[in-house]
Amino acid sequence: MALSAAILVAGSLTVNAFSNPTPAQAMVPPGGYGATAPPMGWNSWFFYGANISAKNIADQAAGMATPNSNLPVNASGTHKSLADLGYRDVGIDDGWGPNNGAGRDANGTFTTKTGFLTGAQTKAVTLSNGTVVAARALNSMKDLTDYIHELGLKAGMYTDTGARGCGGMSGSGDHEAKDLTTFADWGFDYLKLDHCGGTPTKYSTVMADYKDWGSLAANAKTSAGVAHPIALDMCQWGAGSPDGPWVWGGAAGRTWRTGHDLSGNVGWGTTSNGGSTWVNFAQVTGNFDLNDHPSNQATGQYNDPDYLMIGPGFGNDPATGKQQTHGTDTTTLWGLTPDEQQSYFGMWAVQGAPLVLASDLTNLTAASAGIVGNQSVIAVAQDSANHQGQKVLDNGKVQVWSKQLATAGTRAVLLLNRSTTSQTYSFTTQSLGLNGTATVQNLYTGAGLGTLSSTGSKSFTLAPHQSVLLKLTGATEQKPDTVIVPTATGLSEKIWNSSTWSAWQNVSLGTAGSTGPGSIKGEPAVVSSAGGVDVFVRGADDGLWTNTYKNGAWGSWLNLPGMVLTASPTAASMGRDRIDVFVRGTNGQVYQRTFQQTPGADDKPAYWYDVKWTTSSVALGGPSTPTGSGTIVGAPTAVASLNRIDLFARGTDNALWQKSYVSGEWTGWTKRGGTLSSSPTAVSGHPGQIEVFAALSPTGNIGQLSWTATGGWSSTWYDLGRAGTGAPTASQVGDRINVYIRATDNTLWQWYRIGTGPTGTWQQLDSTTKLTGNPAAAAHP
Ligand code: GLA
Repeated sequence: MALSAAILVAGSLTVNAFSNPTPAQAMVPPGGYGATAPPMGWNSWFFYGANISAKNIADQAAGMATPNSNLPVNASGTHKSLADLGYRDVGIDDGWGPNNGAGRDANGTFTTKTGFLTGAQTKAVTLSNGTVVAARALNSMKDLTDYIHELGLKAGMYTDTGARGCGGMSGSGDHEAKDLTTFADWGFDYLKLDHCGGTPTKYSTVMADYKDWGSLAANAKTSAGVAHPIALDMCQWGAGSPDGPWVWGGAAGRTWRTGHDLSGNVGWGTTSNGGSTWVNFAQVTGNFDLNDHPSNQATGQYNDPDYLMIGPGFGNDPATGKQQTHGTDTTTLWGLTPDEQQSYFGMWAVQGAPLVLASDLTNLTAASAGIVGNQSVIAVAQDSANHQGQKVLDNGKVQVWSKQLATAGTRAVLLLNRSTTSQTYSFTTQSLGLNGTATVQNLYTGAGLGTLSSTGSKSFTLAPHQSVLLKLTGATEQKPDTVIVPTATGLSEKIWNSSTWSAWQNVSLGTAGSTGPGSIKGEPAVVSSAGGVDVFVRGADDGLWTNTYKNGAWGSWLNLPGMVLTASPTAASMGRDRIDVFVRGTNGQVYQRTFQQTPGADDKPAYWYDVKWTTSSVALGGPSTPTGSGTIVGAPTAVASLNRIDLFARGTDNALWQKSYVSGEWTGWTKRGGTLSSSPTAVSGHPGQIEVFAALSPTGNIGQLSWTATGGWSSTWYDLGRAGTGAPTASQVGDRINVYIRATDNTLWQWYRIGTGPTGTWQQLDSTTKLTGNPAAAAHP
């Protein structure tokens, strides 16, 4: 049924369009480097360790900006430099300051260590565009950043949140504003903020510390008062479960490390470690796994798995165990074989990770230039949609990671052999979750590989630790939608695969209180995450029960003790790695329980790392609800999108209320109005959009209230023109919004809308199956 006119359901409706929560905004300073794509560049740590001087930083900057005969040529036939390929950040790491709190002058201003600034001359560089950058003497930090800027590059500084840094040099501690002014005076563009010295006592959390730095850095000024915003790269190694930096980092800076250091060895540029292996492939894949937070990555906010030890730097000869000559780029470098180096770069590219080299840029040779200078692979890492690739297949040996690219119908697909034996692997578009036919290109070699379809497979034989990065053009994504309904025989699931519905697949509800919930009170909650489709229900015993539908089958029921439920639960997944469940307790308030995936182990419900119950309830308050009542009517509903969860509930005044968890912090409750006669349900297809549906008084018809980040809340509830029994449920698949209801004859009906506006269509999905409760729906990610 098409609705041409929106109907204002409640005359007294008050919708506040000005108190909308805004989506988490990345704290990259306006125009700041890293605002539109993940940073690329070089960092001093693995190559030099703490033994750095302004001179060797300047020499690496020169290496980055100097045209290299091993890199591709530009339009005028001149070889490009690494800078021309996008590598622009020149990052100083630990070791520029004096040790142990002795790093400040009488005014409390940071000083450099003895020997850092020696007056040494930089190299003169002729850039690929013919511009000549003259040599200069390095007598101050400003001399160094001026040189870096003249080379067309950005200069990065380093400090620590604590009073002491990781390598012993002084950190910032309580001198945040003072040090940012110093770094602005010195001309730095971005800052790596380490965490070895811990959090100053004035901050209650690590998050509060980094957020404070983020806003100070974005608003930094020189001591003369000139605005000089500084981008922030956070380095606290992903600590803080369940709220790791991927949840709140976007509200503090542009990148955050998600794991530990890739290698404990440092300093090849200045010392020898006697020929032991620098880094191994398990460390590389380990950090790749820890960096798997695709739901938290977006433009201006990037997960960071650490630096790229690819190219000249450290190499040990596998035959003799001896270190190779500095600068010779034969095969095994930093302890990695050529296949491992290539896979390392492919993994970072498919994750859209920062590409920050750790190698010696003054010696970039053919083999390493072939990897880090591959413009097609760099384009995957820097793709403007800024999606992080997701794991779509894993057979225990070969993994397939897929990254949706900005151009419609294109994606990068990494096939990675993580095993130590050769593997032959075949796949079709269908096994990658795609419909139709795709043309395929090997991005490592540039070779076209013909087409891939749902029936015509492709096969690759991959040597141990080898990978291939493919570009697929033409296939479309299958985005299945799941609807789960309580019936007389249990809980039944039906899946829409973009063209047809599956048959019902049923799971029995078991024996109350022992093998299952027995029966379901109210409606189930369903959420789709890496582990499959997870369903949560309130059992006959008022306990919370869960089951997972995965690989075409239901699992066993599991009881999640600790709460007596007085309404149906709701669940939301902020990412593949996390599920939050909200319930109404005996006191009528909302309680939250968080489940967190063990890093790297995707296939894991039943039931993850469990963060126990916390109350997220505060008094509802507000004009029509006496302050302090603090209770909700019926079941809450939660919806997650980039770095936020929005929780909606029907207040005791029957109005819709909202409370939001944004970048690691809860807001209070805000009234959104309406006169509800059922619990609400909410759906979000992408960040910056939420739709709420509920039955409305006095008709009982389903109503819809919409929010966009740009337009705020719609001023009216739209009447969808049909009443159901109890609460509706909704899902969003791309631009298609589906609302499901248990109709008054107990059959399942769907309303759907493609695009925007209130116009939609109702259809009965099944005329025979009778629902014994309200449905629940979820779109697969
Ligand atoms: C920590 C960081 C590294 C590096 C060192 C310097 O270990 O994780 O990246 O900055 O400190 O001491």
